[in-house]
Amino acid sequence: MTRNDLVELAKRRGYFFQSAGAYGGVSGFYTYGPQGATLKQNVENSWRERFQVREGHREIDAPTVMPEPVFEASGHLDTFDDMLVECPECGESHRADHLIEDNTDIEEAESIAISEVEDLISEHDLQCPNCGTELGGVPVEDFNLMFETNIGPGSSSPGYLRPETAQGIFVEFPQLAEYARNQLPFGITQIGKAYRNEISPRKSIVRVREFTQAELEHFIDPTEDEPQLDRVADVELKLYPAEEQEKEDGEYVYKTVEEAVEEGLVHEWVAYYLGVGKQWYESIGVDMDRFRFRQHLSGELAHYAADCWDAESEVDGDWIEITGFAYRSDYDLSKHDEYSDDDFTVFKQYDEPKVVERATVDPDMSYLGPEFGGAAGDVATELELLAERDRTAFDGETVTVEVEGDEHEIPVEKTGFAVEEVKETGEHIMPHVVEPSIGIDRVIYTVLDHAYEEDEIEGETRSYLSLEPDVAPTFVGVFPLVDKEGMDDRARDIADDLRAEGFDVTYDDSGSIGRRYRRQDEVGTPFCITVDDETADTVTLRERDSTEQVRVETEDLPDLLADLREG
Ligand code: GAP
Repeated sequence: MTRNDLVELAKRRGYFFQSAGAYGGVSGFYTYGPQGATLKQNVENSWRERFQVREGHREIDAPTVMPEPVFEASGHLDTFDDMLVECPECGESHRADHLIEDNTDIEEAESIAISEVEDLISEHDLQCPNCGTELGGVPVEDFNLMFETNIGPGSSSPGYLRPETAQGIFVEFPQLAEYARNQLPFGITQIGKAYRNEISPRKSIVRVREFTQAELEHFIDPTEDEPQLDRVADVELKLYPAEEQEKEDGEYVYKTVEEAVEEGLVHEWVAYYLGVGKQWYESIGVDMDRFRFRQHLSGELAHYAADCWDAESEVDGDWIEITGFAYRSDYDLSKHDEYSDDDFTVFKQYDEPKVVERATVDPDMSYLGPEFGGAAGDVATELELLAERDRTAFDGETVTVEVEGDEHEIPVEKTGFAVEEVKETGEHIMPHVVEPSIGIDRVIYTVLDHAYEEDEIEGETRSYLSLEPDVAPTFVGVFPLVDKEGMDDRARDIADDLRAEGFDVTYDDSGSIGRRYRRQDEVGTPFCITVDDETADTVTLRERDSTEQVRVETEDLPDLLADLREG
């Protein structure tokens, strides 16, 4: 199926369509229709079940607008850029790296430096896809992807729509750590909208300007905490390591989670979540033959990531990134600790108090005072820091500290330097973070694309969505064979009863029974019940993929359908 076919089907069957079509539509914004919104909820709930409830994590719900200092600290203000080239003729903006990838055999052009990108555009005579103007010699610029706004009237308090849900978790870390009683490891999830002012949104819901992320930030003590690998040890991973990508004939490497860790291919925490992720994708209907984990090349890593593997699915002959599994180390917490007034460490209590040596200084301020005037306090602070960092600096006759560019030589005897033994009950540590970051819209696109099937029934081509029963938005269709002779009343009663039991039911009495089956097949409804006049207390139950029908007692329907939903 081509992308156009999927987009057409999605629109026709109420999955998704471009927003504000009545006003010409806006690129990069999509509305989920009646089927799509439920499919999305089902996928999100299944993600909650697997990544949150089963793992014992907790969810939060933070604002989507955050003040500028958050993004100064996180690095997004400085570095969250894409490369933009604007056509001098028609004014259309393009992503320079996409132009290169689409028109040459160069992959991952995102990681190439701007000056080299400009050269490549000239060398390959690349043209504006809109009007055909040559773009060689046109400057390529960094374009920050965040949507800016003002918080309150005036422009004194700039804010940004969050480009990732993760920052809403990181900035609240001091409260969350207190909630977790400073006990590492603990995980916080969040699902919600993220915004990126993409230069060129494309592939329908694959690259949009407003999308949904489901993120888990798992805070760990890197010196002590280990994942429970045995829970996913045997899960088979199809890996595409950076090393293989760099070879001309690079190949996939097939390893279990356990092997990938033992052989040092994947960081143990990342490998754990690749295992969890693989189980989850499979359970929601991603085709494992069109799925892989690809390691980021070093130039491709986000500013915060020490290592990252993407889950990628193949749709339309292209591989798309559906999830990033990143080891973010202590990057974010350290930055917020540095930029804010709060403490982003946790206090790790020792089992037994430890006797440790501590270097202290108690400078003779009367000595320093007259000589250094107002700088005396700063000198004292520098001495304290130096004593913590490097005791050997106090080994000679004098010690040197720098304050505002001036070097001060101080006799060691005047610094009050001493080493004493103290009892410590614990220490402050900066947790590290492991992050599976799932793009729900891309998962939805993949699930729909991979579910699309065609077969032939009575000489006619049938297209259907083979959605997994527990994510399918409509679980069962209920039809009277004909809309009269009491069959309609019986069918309506069955539909009502099943709704009361919590099933997602659609009732349909229009058109031939064959057409009604085809409609539900294309929507992806796993089961259809037809009320006929064979007996008063039985109906037929039809399964979507095989089209097989069995006759069942009406009163058995709730239990039977519950079993089928469980799989
Ligand atoms: N917190 C980490 C983070 O945001 P990312 O790789 O930039 O990492 C995570 O984004 C996921 O969000 C991606 O794997 C992708 O599925 C989804 N995503 C990113 N940009 C998107 C866009 N413009 N449209 C739809 N989904 C997007």
